[in-house]
Amino acid sequence: MEKLKTTFAGLELKNPFIVSSSGLTDSVEKNKQLEQAGAAAVVLKSLFEEQIMWQSAHHSSASDYPEAEDYLQGYLRAHYLEEYTKLVRDTKRACTIPVIASINCYTDEEWEEFASVLEQAGADAIELNLMAVQSSLNYQYGAFEQRHIDILKHVKSRVRVPLIVKLGANLTNPVKLIEQLYVNGAAAVVLFNRFYHTDIDIEKMEYTAGHVLSHESELANSLRWIGVASASVKQIDYAASGGVVDGASIVKCLLVGASAVEVCSVLYEKGNGVIKTMLSQMDEWMTRRGYESVGQFQGLMRARDPERVNVFERTQFLKYFCEKK
Ligand SMILES: Cc1cc2nc3c(=O)[nH]c(=O)nc-3n(C[C@H](O)[C@H](O)[C@H](O)COP(=O)(O)O)c2cc1C
Repeated sequence: MEKLKTTFAGLELKNPFIVSSSGLTDSVEKNKQLEQAGAAAVVLKSLFEEQIMWQSAHHSSASDYPEAEDYLQGYLRAHYLEEYTKLVRDTKRACTIPVIASINCYTDEEWEEFASVLEQAGADAIELNLMAVQSSLNYQYGAFEQRHIDILKHVKSRVRVPLIVKLGANLTNPVKLIEQLYVNGAAAVVLFNRFYHTDIDIEKMEYTAGHVLSHESELANSLRWIGVASASVKQIDYAASGGVVDGASIVKCLLVGASAVEVCSVLYEKGNGVIKTMLSQMDEWMTRRGYESVGQFQGLMRARDPERVNVFERTQFLKYFCEKK
């Protein structure tokens, strides 16, 4: 389907469907099947900061023996990195679609070293997923945003492949941050990462995991922010993640200015066959509307006046919530 082609972060994609980082992309066999099912690219399961930094410290029961601790930390770090590098290398050998490596981190550590190893293993791009909750009373406003930029700059200084930054939805002003990420060399951003959902078992009086998989209503947040950000910062590519469940949701993301979608929950729920279904729904919509390429409709529904978003948002709120009896 030539007409579904798009580009994202400098990568040529046969369609906008990227499988997002998750357990769905943690093995070569799964990635091969996703390619056969029609995915245009895969973002590999993340290499987590805890695996590289914390886990090695946590596993070390040798705090009385600093040399042993150093050895264990070095060993575990090398082990996780080698395992991940193998996943990148073997997936590249088995698949023809772009393979995006993913680093999920929250502190400004030596990510440039790891990113460089992943690039050498053949990753076509690297996604940096900064996931953290800011709750310290010592927090300086803007420090978390600055950390995104610092990590990006450090990684950028060592790798040539495109860098994608996956953002959390807990930022004060994603648009300003996206502009700064662009200025500092990011090729694309993904809106948004999904946090662990908190719930409580009121009988056991315990915290439990809320919904692990997303709901289609979560798409609204990505639509809002991609629509606003892509109107202000046009030079960077956008992918939507969160609540993309059918062909119509892919179309909506492209209409607000995304180049691609990163999808996961609907694949867990319905299996790989849903990729072809969603793409043919998108194809049918394009045919019905007379579009022959993604470029003909991408961005048509961006925010018209991004500096006056509050006028729009507040008016809608008044209209739908304040007048409801
Ligand atoms: C089981 C599961 C595992 C995930 N693992 C990762 C991960 O390793 N790294 C990451 O960046 N995002 C991870 N995510 C988040 C997804 O990549 C995606 O951004 C999020 O679920 C929203 O997309 P969706 O609505 O299609 O599920 C995971 C999500 C799920 C449900």
